[in-house]
Amino acid sequence: PGVLRVALLGYGVVGSQVARALVENADDLAARSGARLELVGVAVRDASRPRDGVGTVVPASLLTEDAEALVDRADLVIEVMGGLEPARSLIRRAIAAGASVVTANKALLAAQGPELFEAADAARVDLAFEAAVAGAIPIVRPVRESLAGDQVRRVLGIVNGTTNYVLDQMTTLGLDLSDALAEAQALGFAEADPTADVEGYDAAAKAAILASLAFHTRVSIDQVAREGITGVTAADVVAAATTGHVVKLLAIAERTAEGVSVRVHPALVPAAHPLAAVHGAFNAVFVEADGAGPLMFYGQGAGGRPTASAVLGDLVSAARDRLSGGKGSYESAYASLPVLPADAA
Ligand code: HSE
Repeated sequence: PGVLRVALLGYGVVGSQVARALVENADDLAARSGARLELVGVAVRDASRPRDGVGTVVPASLLTEDAEALVDRADLVIEVMGGLEPARSLIRRAIAAGASVVTANKALLAAQGPELFEAADAARVDLAFEAAVAGAIPIVRPVRESLAGDQVRRVLGIVNGTTNYVLDQMTTLGLDLSDALAEAQALGFAEADPTADVEGYDAAAKAAILASLAFHTRVSIDQVAREGITGVTAADVVAAATTGHVVKLLAIAERTAEGVSVRVHPALVPAAHPLAAVHGAFNAVFVEADGAGPLMFYGQGAGGRPTASAVLGDLVSAARDRLSGGKGSYESAYASLPVLPADAA
């Protein structure tokens, strides 16, 4: 079989697990892809810093601080560094050079997705992002592909593991927000800057991506009305329980007569609703479609191995597409359904 060269940008919670799988599961990945997926380098900011798995699982010689040079010699580029820059420039560079890209970067896609998808479409390469929404849960592909012949009415999601964990600990153990957040950080679910979690920015980015897919339009994070969980108190969760509800941070995207409305805010979910049973750092996305009716996607939405699972699935698909000359990007499928401004939601 042939060889496809893989560049990994970022070696954090997710990147280290992707690297490990590329090395340890190389034979299975080759069999499923149709080519060996050879890890040719890992770009990090400081290559001299000691890191788990480097020197044991991943040869230290693969680490580089020159991400651009690494991108230039790859067929497949995995971006798990996060943040807007240099992630955006590196993805543009990879696409321009004809490489396929797999990213977990929800913030970047929610801010500048259209530009990147157009570039990938023009270059006829994949820009895959299953890992950007709800970690391990297959949700991007089902919404974009399996439901492409249906009409989605509404999407309700618990798409941030950190805040779900925090609200759950407040509800079940009576912890206060800051103690529960410290636990979530220790478990590796929280963003580097946890305000992205507790203020709802991370959920808003995922809501924008989900709404774009569900309603075949382009929703950016600025169009998502957002309220985080910092205003939720222990008394609120107790009061909710006495009326048979649980407090959840929900991402809600729905089609109205006027257009698409997208918002993130704490909500009272009836205890009997399937979303009420989503505990810990788990995520779930509840989709209501005309033909399919209600659907629920549930699983681990954060953490290294679960998110790496989604990255690796995209990587195998992107490798298959390269080998078959196909392409799995769908920019041309987007219509211009109006999106309501955030202040109207
Ligand atoms: N901080 C995110 C969360 C990680 O807690 O869900 C996954 O995007």
